[in-house]
Amino acid sequence: MPTPLKNDRLLRALRREPVDTTPVWVMRQAGRYLPEYRATRAKAGSFMALAQNPELACEVTLQPLRRFELDAAILFSDILTIPDAMGLGLSFAQGEGPQFARPVRSRADVARLGVPDMETELRYVMDAVRVIRRELDGSVPLIGFSGSPWTLACYMVEGEGSRDFATAKAMCWNEPATAHQLLDTLARSVAAYLSAQAAAGAQVLMVFDTWGGMLGPAAYREFSLRYMAQAVDALKADPHARELPIILFSKGAHAHLAAMADTGCAALGVDWTIDLADARRAVDGKVALQGNLDPAVLRAQPDIIRREVRRVLDSYGKHPGHVFNLGHGITPEVDPEHVKVLVDEVHAYSRILRGS
Ligand code: CP3
Repeated sequence: MPTPLKNDRLLRALRREPVDTTPVWVMRQAGRYLPEYRATRAKAGSFMALAQNPELACEVTLQPLRRFELDAAILFSDILTIPDAMGLGLSFAQGEGPQFARPVRSRADVARLGVPDMETELRYVMDAVRVIRRELDGSVPLIGFSGSPWTLACYMVEGEGSRDFATAKAMCWNEPATAHQLLDTLARSVAAYLSAQAAAGAQVLMVFDTWGGMLGPAAYREFSLRYMAQAVDALKADPHARELPIILFSKGAHAHLAAMADTGCAALGVDWTIDLADARRAVDGKVALQGNLDPAVLRAQPDIIRREVRRVLDSYGKHPGHVFNLGHGITPEVDPEHVKVLVDEVHAYSRILRGS
């Protein structure tokens, strides 16, 4: 029997059940703002060497939990592992972000792609999940994750990061059949990847659609939402993942919260450009919400951080179904002490708010 969870606040909040205090975790909580992360990464040699070593990936996953009273761990990996396993040749140039040696540009390139085998080509990810679950020993739940089909397609077609992903968008307009074939292969890959993480021990699944908000409303529904919904449908029919809560996060897409809530996911990630009170009204009690402090607030002084944390908690109010997080990933220059201020204030103030 697996160890029962000692801290199940995250799972309870995702089910919209009452909790003593609002659960909190931080997107990119294992990362360069922590000196111990930078030391482990230097030991590994590169970001990919770190992600592909299950013991070291476990070590950096646990580092933020040793410093802060976080209510969840998130697998240390990256969204670009799927395209790498498809043969695109991923590397991270120092300080320059991701690059693919063989980007996807043509119908023939797309036709060559298949769903990677999870227990061979992506075995290192599943091994990391197994090692982390063992080391967590039931202290907090483990979140597994994937990129969304659209966000993965953005990097695969562009071949690297971009301000506007114009090449990927152009494929949608000029070669819609090719774009749809790519997105369908990716939706099947995302579902298989998350199913395998669930089988290996992930207890919550999150989909990062970082670039969904760059699309206009009709294009968002056609090229982003539709394929996240396809992956959610597949997971709801999957024996390993069926019971797991799924969090969908489309950055910059709060106009679509109501449509996203209809996919059958448990929760939506929300960026900082909308008040949680308005986001709650938009989803009409169908899902939990995760967010949404502006990550830049962590550059402010502690009393300002506390004030802004309280503003987010007040905006959501006493209702069940809130997971505190930033509205996007933490940035490298943040002082780790400021993260402690944030986490402690979430717990302290949400207890007062609930009168518990
Ligand atoms: O949240 C966590 O702590 C778990 C680990 C995690 C990473 N990347 C580690 C990482 C997660 C969940 C991701 C997701 C991810 N990766 C996204 C979606 C979320 C988001 O931030 O929008 C995206 C778009 C990527 C792609 C990616 N990976 C980029 C653009 C970069 C380079 C940019 C940067 O921050 O340097 C990465 C590299 C990466 N992934 C780092 C980390 C900690 C930094 C690399 C390093 O250590 O040098």
